[in-house]
Parts: sequence; C-alpha cells; structure tokens
Amino acid sequence: MSTPTTNRSTALPQRHLADLPVSALGLGCMGMSYAYGTPDHDESIATLHEAIDRGITMLDTADIYGDGHNEALLAEVLATRRDEVVLATKFGIVLDPDGGYPSGAKGSADYVRSSVDGSLSRLGVDVIDLYYLHRVDTTIPIEETIGAMAELVTAGKVRRLGISEPSAQSLRRAAAVHPIAAVQSEWSIFSRDIENEVVPVAREVGATVVPYSPLGRGMLTGSSEALTPADGDFRTTLPRWQGDNLAANRALVARIVAIAGEVDATPAQVALAWLLARGADVVPIPGTKRRRHLADNLGALDLQLPTAVLDELSSMSAVGDRYPDMGWVDRDGVE
Ligand SMILES: NC(=O)c1ccc[n+]([C@@H]2O[C@H](COP(=O)([O-])OP(=O)(O)OC[C@H]3O[C@@H](n4cnc5c(N)ncnc54)[C@H](OP(=O)(O)O)[C@@H]3O)[C@@H](O)[C@H]2O)c1
Repeated sequence: MSTPTTNRSTALPQRHLADLPVSALGLGCMGMSYAYGTPDHDESIATLHEAIDRGITMLDTADIYGDGHNEALLAEVLATRRDEVVLATKFGIVLDPDGGYPSGAKGSADYVRSSVDGSLSRLGVDVIDLYYLHRVDTTIPIEETIGAMAELVTAGKVRRLGISEPSAQSLRRAAAVHPIAAVQSEWSIFSRDIENEVVPVAREVGATVVPYSPLGRGMLTGSSEALTPADGDFRTTLPRWQGDNLAANRALVARIVAIAGEVDATPAQVALAWLLARGADVVPIPGTKRRRHLADNLGALDLQLPTAVLDELSSMSAVGDRYPDMGWVDRDGVE
C-alpha cells in the first residue's frame, strides 16, 4: 500500500504489521454494525474520521459484520481517506440465515475467490491491505485455503495475508505456503488461550499478533452496558454473561475498576495497557462506535503499568468459555 500521507498519522506510537508501520492501536469496527447495542450511523462515521485524524492507521472489518453492512459503512470514509489507512477485512465465516450469527467456516478455493470480490466491491477499493481467513475450515487442508489466498496477492487484489483463530499447527502450515503478516485472535486479561502456543509460533513465523476483543467485549471496562447487555445483544449468548459465571466475572471486573483508580486511569486503559505490554509486536484493535470511547482507549498509549499491577492482572482468570461452542476454535487443523 502507499504510505499513509497525512502528518497526523504519525502522531501515535507506531508498531509493525510485519514490515509495515501501523499505529500501536487499531480500530475494531464490528460494533458499528453488529453484536453490541444499537448501531448509530452518524456517530460511527464521526468515530472513523476521528480515529484517522488522531493517527489510527489500521481499520478492522469483516464481510460478515452486519452481513456486508460494516464494509459498506467503511466505504463512506474510505472514499476520501483510503491512503491514510491500512485496511483489514476477513472472509471465511458463513452466517446462519435465521439468526444472522456465525454458523460455520468455509475455506474452499472457490469461496476465497468469490469472497474477495464481494469485499472489494462493498469497500469500494481496488486492493485490501490485509486479508484474513476469519476461521480455519478444518474440513479441508489449510494449504488449499492459503494457496487460493496467495493467488489473490499475485492478482493484486490483496497485499498481505492473515489468519484469525488458527491453531499453532495450522499457523505453521499456512506460513509454509505464504507469509502470514498477522494472526488475529481473542486476547485480553480475560482471554489468555493463545499465549502458550499460538503467540510463540506467530513470533517464529514473523506474524504480528492482533488481539481482538481486547476489552473483553466491553466487560473489562466495567460499563453497565457491557455487564448488563440488552436483549438481543450478542453478549447474552456467551457463557461469560450467564448466571454464576457473570457474577464471578463482575467481581473480577470490580477489582480491575479499583486498580484503574489506583493508577489514575480508566479500566479500558488498564486493559489495553496490559495487552500492549505483552510485546512490541502486539497491535490490539479495541472496538468502539463512539468518539468518547475512542479517546479513552487512546489514553492507554500513555499508560505504563507497574510490574506488580501487570502481575495481578495476569493472575486473573475469567469464568466461562469465550464462545458457547468452542468447536469454532481450530485446535489441531486437519492433515
Ligand atoms: N477475528 C474475530 O473473530 C473477531 C471477533 C470479534 C471481534 N473482532 C474484531 O475485533 C474488534 C474489537 O473487538 P470487540 O469489538 O469484539 O470487543 P472489545 O474491543 O473488547 O469491546 C468492544 C465493546 O466495548 C465497548 N467499549 C469500547 N471502548 C470503551 C470504553 N473506553 N469504555 C466503555 N466501553 C467501551 C464498545 O462499546 P461502544 O461501541 O459503545 O464504545 C463495545 O461494546 C472488533 O470490532 C472486530 O473488528 C474480531
């Protein structure tokens, strides 16, 4: 991609997406269309502009967010600001036609080819800077999916490849087919699954780690909206928001809120600063559709947590699985 052209884009600390400089925090755009609360078009557009004005250079979306709505929303901003951002989107999850929620992974070569054209069209761009496989399709060899994605690089439709939620084994196999610039998986104080195997392999193959849901889908901020989501909010379907699990997690969050007070920061800043301290190759993408939350989250870039605080946060363990069906997570891949 062309190097971002505005001076404003160098205002934030930089990290790297493989070889490419990016702001140390990106912006997750999913909630602007789907999953959390009621979408707000005008505030979302204002948040996207504000993010770029403040120097965020990586925007994260996917074809399934609002079933294409999110990519089309970004197109409204990309129409005038394409060169200022590293644009990341994803394919490879299919939606349940009834509920609209994810219902399967699809990684066939044909599906790779048709998906990218759909995303390019909705985004209104000629090329995608980072194209992620959203979930590994464990019914076919990952080499088939990554091989087809590599052809998109050759064709000039995408610039770099990424994978979301791969097992360590799948990641190694994928990287043997084509360089993998980024691994995007859930990682936060409450979601530590990738630390033992996936993160070391990402480092081994030279992939940047892009933690999604770095605020624990809002739970770590302690906001009442996140802790008591409205009917129909995606979070109500997740084990961590149910029954005794939620009560236990609320108690942990109360301690995070107290820690934030002790270090004169907000809980969101504490959660992000903890993650930024995991390594210089970590680029979290906190999601927000509101300018005031964006400003709050960027404050994390100025927060250095004392070792004792980092250690206490690392000792916390959320109660409940990340998803109702952990079969979604690629643990072993297929031969
Ligand atoms: N690869 C994958 O499978 C996958 C899965 C999930 C998400 N993602 C990506 O990762 C991005 C981030 O993850 P996420 O959105 O799921 O979760 P998140 O970033 O952990 O949390 C987002 C939630 O926190 C709220 N929030 C954000 N900043 C806040 C603040 N300072 N104070 C209080 N509340 C705040 C947001 O509400 P408001 O919008 O009202 O601010 C939203 O409800 C997504 O946008 C998406 O691009 C990828």
